[in-house]
Amino acid sequence: MKVLSVVGARPNFVKIAPLLREMAGRGEIESVLVHTGQHYDARMSDDFFAALAIPAPDFNLAVGSGSHARQTAEVMTRFEPVLESVRPDLVLVVGDVNSTLAAALTAAKLGIRVAHVEAGLRSFDRSMPEELNRLATDAIADELFASEESAVENLAREGVPSERVHFVGNVMIDALRLTRPLWQASTIVADLGLDRLPRYGAVTLHRAANVDDPDRLRQITGALQALARHVPLIFPVHPRVRPLLDGHDVRWLDAAAPVPAQGLVCTEPLGYLDFVALVSRAAVVLTDSGGIQEETTILGVPCLTLRENTERPATVRHGTNRVIGVAPHRIVEEGLFALTQPPLRRTPPPRWDGHAAARIVDVLVRATVPVAA
Ligand code: UD1
Repeated sequence: MKVLSVVGARPNFVKIAPLLREMAGRGEIESVLVHTGQHYDARMSDDFFAALAIPAPDFNLAVGSGSHARQTAEVMTRFEPVLESVRPDLVLVVGDVNSTLAAALTAAKLGIRVAHVEAGLRSFDRSMPEELNRLATDAIADELFASEESAVENLAREGVPSERVHFVGNVMIDALRLTRPLWQASTIVADLGLDRLPRYGAVTLHRAANVDDPDRLRQITGALQALARHVPLIFPVHPRVRPLLDGHDVRWLDAAAPVPAQGLVCTEPLGYLDFVALVSRAAVVLTDSGGIQEETTILGVPCLTLRENTERPATVRHGTNRVIGVAPHRIVEEGLFALTQPPLRRTPPPRWDGHAAARIVDVLVRATVPVAA
């Protein structure tokens, strides 16, 4: 059985790592890896491959950046001949980035079975590019792997036959557990001089809705500055956001000096192990990322989601996440509240137990091996 897995952007690398590891341990699977090249910087791609022990891709489509239409079209154009030469039994896609949808659509049009990991998550906000990618990918996938119960319910409501939906848990949590000794050994907290401070917070921000409108971004950074008078906030900046912060009241990390006891301090993007290490010891995290809502749930770190909605409600119900929007007064109030009264840890969401990849590969093997075999 030949499984071709596709990755393109940072969160995909984290999700595919445990799946590739699991497939490598099963004799019946021949695994092929395609990197679309959506993310290409060393810090956005190579560092993740190294930290997560992902083998070098068999194909790199090197599509790079571009508008959504161009990026999606480039992946489709360059992926089609790869599929025609490799002829896999199944194409495995993860998450909700442009590469996910482009690869799924190309495979489905060639009549190749598609499996989608992290299917069924819905923010019900179609202004998010990721929501369109999720809806369209799930509409054409043959096997849909759900990370949480809300996703199973969403797919049922959309009329997906239940035999195609598999509630397997969360591969991102598999990755977090598998790499625990490595991120626990990271020295990033000491390297930044954060170990001499009583506490610190971490920030990430990259969603178009939050960063593309200069007024909105200014409001958010202003609120973060106000909160940072009480607790220093470390902000690893996505390359796309860096130029958008020009002229904002933010300070960049000075390599020669430790992080000051207060203020919002920007850094280059961190690799996976350093980022998880930073988050694991933070007093609070403020983010608009999807995956970080999940990681903080398991790490037991208060997470304030700077969005109006989440496609990951299990992180609110079972975890430490609060969806607070971006009103400046709320960011400050909720930040201070999280510092003084951190949420109690609850039982983790069902099946976020480190075995999601094994469940997925079990299903793939069953679904593709002919019944008579
Ligand atoms: C993409 C995903 C988003 C995911 C995020 C994780 C889509 C629609 N969005 O957003 O869901 O949460 O990845 O990071 O697929 N850039 C670089 N170097 C890189 C990659 C990007 O400089 O290695 C810059 C380029 O200016 C590029 C911009 O970032 O134009 C945006 O990159 P892109 O992959 O289109 O979207 P992300 O914002 O990273």
